[in-house]
Amino acid sequence: MKLIKLLANLGYGSRKEVQRLIRAGALSDDQGNVLGEGECPPHAAIRFRGAPLDPPFPLLVMLNKPDGYTCSADDPGATVYDLLPARFALRNPVLSPVGRLDKDTTGLLLLTDDGQLLHKIIHPKSSCLKIYHAELDRPLEGHEAALFGSGELALKSDSKPLLPARLEVLGEREALVTLHEGRYHQVRRMFAAAGNHVLALRRVAIGGLRLPADLAEGEWRELTPDERLLIFAGTLGA
Ligand code: URA
Repeated sequence: MKLIKLLANLGYGSRKEVQRLIRAGALSDDQGNVLGEGECPPHAAIRFRGAPLDPPFPLLVMLNKPDGYTCSADDPGATVYDLLPARFALRNPVLSPVGRLDKDTTGLLLLTDDGQLLHKIIHPKSSCLKIYHAELDRPLEGHEAALFGSGELALKSDSKPLLPARLEVLGEREALVTLHEGRYHQVRRMFAAAGNHVLALRRVAIGGLRLPADLAEGEWRELTPDERLLIFAGTLGA
């Protein structure tokens, strides 16, 4: 790929802006040699103002989403893109959330610019589980696990019933819910159908990938190769 296109796709500026940057000597290789438009060494050897370039396509990051941030890039309020380097919102192909979390849901959010990977993770046939920790307004009554697991629970205005979901009771008002799909406000609507109300919701795992304990709220990082594999591996006993 040409240097101008590479930099523009990574969000460093429009092609014209990037051309100006290159002409001003902002690009060099890892030996400090200034790069011209016609040169494009391997990605890892390119420096922008002395710093390594942002990661190439395909990018896959995990974010510990805090409360109060939406997953939509065009929301006028705080968005998850505010927690990432500003250039990430300008990448081409675009960096998209892998299944959205509600504004008030916290926890594990993946973002990628790889459309194929995104669809593979969110497609119900991928059997890629999502696990949520829910804190509830009222005590669990005991009927919820059977209701959620029935495969017959139809939420208002949905044409099809939900796929069977697993409920693991952790306390009187606390549970883990494992889903194989991702419908709008699904966990909150499931508990509402069971006569309860979710006070706080956190996604703790996607497939076999758990939210790392050392990833503080608002922090992000790229996945390691092993973590990528975990998304499609194992079911955490769910
Ligand atoms: N279910 C919900 O109700 N909200 C989310 O953000 C995710 C799953």
